[in-house]
Amino acid sequence: MSDSTTNDTGPTTAPPAWWTAATVYQIYPRSFADSNGDGVGDLGGIRQRLGHLHDLGVDVIWLSPIYRSPQADNGYDISDYDDVDPLFGTLDEFDALLDEVHALGMKLVMDLVVNHTSDEHPWFVEARSSRDAPKRDWYLWRDPLPSGEGSDAAGTPGAGTYPTAWRSAFSGPAWTLDERTGQYYLHMFASKQPDLNWENPDLRRAVFDMMNRWLDRGVDGFRMDVINHIAKEPSSLAPGASHFVMGGQIHDHLREMHREVFAHRTDRELITVGEMPGVTVDDARLFTAADRHELDMVFQFEHVGLDHGPASKFDNLPFDLVALKRSLSHWQDGLADQGWNSLYLGNHDQPRSVSRFGDDDRYRFESATLLATVLHLHRGTPYVYQGDEIGMTNAGFASIEQYRDIESVNWFDESVAAGADPESLLESLRFRSRDNARTPVPWSGGAAAGFSTGTPWIEGVANHDTVNVEADRAAGDRSVFEHYRRLIALRHESPVVALGSFELLAPDDERLYAFTRTLGDEQLLVLANWSGEPYELDPALHPALRRRSVPQVAIGNVPSGAGLTLAPWAVRGLQSVPAPPRCANRDSGGAARRSGRKMSGAPRSSCRVRPAARGAGGRVRHAARGRAPDASTRRTVG
Ligand code: NOJ
Repeated sequence: MSDSTTNDTGPTTAPPAWWTAATVYQIYPRSFADSNGDGVGDLGGIRQRLGHLHDLGVDVIWLSPIYRSPQADNGYDISDYDDVDPLFGTLDEFDALLDEVHALGMKLVMDLVVNHTSDEHPWFVEARSSRDAPKRDWYLWRDPLPSGEGSDAAGTPGAGTYPTAWRSAFSGPAWTLDERTGQYYLHMFASKQPDLNWENPDLRRAVFDMMNRWLDRGVDGFRMDVINHIAKEPSSLAPGASHFVMGGQIHDHLREMHREVFAHRTDRELITVGEMPGVTVDDARLFTAADRHELDMVFQFEHVGLDHGPASKFDNLPFDLVALKRSLSHWQDGLADQGWNSLYLGNHDQPRSVSRFGDDDRYRFESATLLATVLHLHRGTPYVYQGDEIGMTNAGFASIEQYRDIESVNWFDESVAAGADPESLLESLRFRSRDNARTPVPWSGGAAAGFSTGTPWIEGVANHDTVNVEADRAAGDRSVFEHYRRLIALRHESPVVALGSFELLAPDDERLYAFTRTLGDEQLLVLANWSGEPYELDPALHPALRRRSVPQVAIGNVPSGAGLTLAPWAVRGLQSVPAPPRCANRDSGGAARRSGRKMSGAPRSSCRVRPAARGAGGRVRHAARGRAPDASTRRTVG
């Protein structure tokens, strides 16, 4: 959280927020590394592998939930917010991990799941004990409607007793009847995940107290699970997402959270990111405007919904590059002067990015590195999902017995019961299931791929003998990890990467993803051939392509083709050649402001220095962590 800074692109004297130059790495603990041989990843495993993340150069680690939980949704169903699930370790181990993360110069962010708890949380156990229980109102209860006046289980209004036609994200109705007290409770996810009632001030107080306890323990912020769902309108439980997503009180709740949890912690660099399915750019501007004190950034879902058909997320549509460019650039533009973007292509809820957007077979290295480059060179804070840094692919399981994910299994069962063809359902899951990204990280080849000495809780990807950390890191010029490392270092070192304004080029081109980032008189031109065929660049695309002296290659993945040809899945980030040294004080924003171009960052002064030697806005993360700025990010390709 940054109270004293602004993250907008207008001229400002305040330093940019630290996370504009940072990269976050997401760990899905049960699949990261298993230290005790029970087949489930744990805190001990994470501690053993911290060197991997330190080598990668990430600034922040986000841990998916490790709290006590019956694991109905792999930890997103919490039964004790103040303890670590024995499956993952102990609080002492957590403290040791936190110390080690901090000693390595990184931060640790917890997953905050407060739209719902587990039905085994003592709050819910008490709430369901009687209609008069003191905590009854901490959850959302409704009487059954007279038969035929409510919805039925399939969501048909006027056919049953359910209070609304809302459907759970994990199939079935969003209401379960509590037999003992004769009322329905709401659960937007599984029936074991009852939704909390944020209208109740005591509940809010309990959540804020819990967040404060974790911050006092030393964690550096929160990734907030479906946080835009917390403000439901219990008095109006009519059909439709508008009543449970972005309800009227959402901004008040987040501002209150800021006041009660973050506002007084001005001596710490914290970070908050809100996961928000259905959020629009206009909403996000409000949620992330620095002076509104709500969140630092949000995860939006527009770009990862483009390949969902009308029936459900399992209705797979072909990938459309033009639509992706339109969507991402819309967000870049929308948050250019207020707010901040989170950048992601994959996480534990999405298919593997190289299988979804790239070519995970013939051009796995090329397309994995292209996707990373395009994403990381946008304006925003990039998130790396575990395994993407070695180009992990979808698992593509063939039988329903191989799946573990509650969403996938419930959808399969419900669809089969409704008469769907199991083979076509499996075909959809092979591409879309969340389990595609939840397979164990293969640290090496061989048995259990170095993930565990036991039997992993879920099968690994069949290609783990070739796609594993050991093999990737030994692959020299064809190491996906090494490419990610250079991208992360580039963001640390280059103000134009961290802060430059964004402009999309050739928006309608179906194979080229091209854009510029501009900061003062520096420009980065990014050219990505999003296809398996060579791509001939049109010199009219950008003046740099017409000049005799080719700009410096800031980053690239494969040797470029001859002249203006981009090899299949080749990407290049070309940085405009710096002007000769000048020693007079200057305001780098002046020229751009005069020409009407938008500027980012604080005015700078004194001699021009090579971009590789300068820190982003004076915040050279590697120097702060005892490392030299990384000259290898300037490697020339071609
Ligand atoms: C979003 C999380 O990312 C997902 O994994 C989880 O199932 C739901 N929220 C419910 O907590």
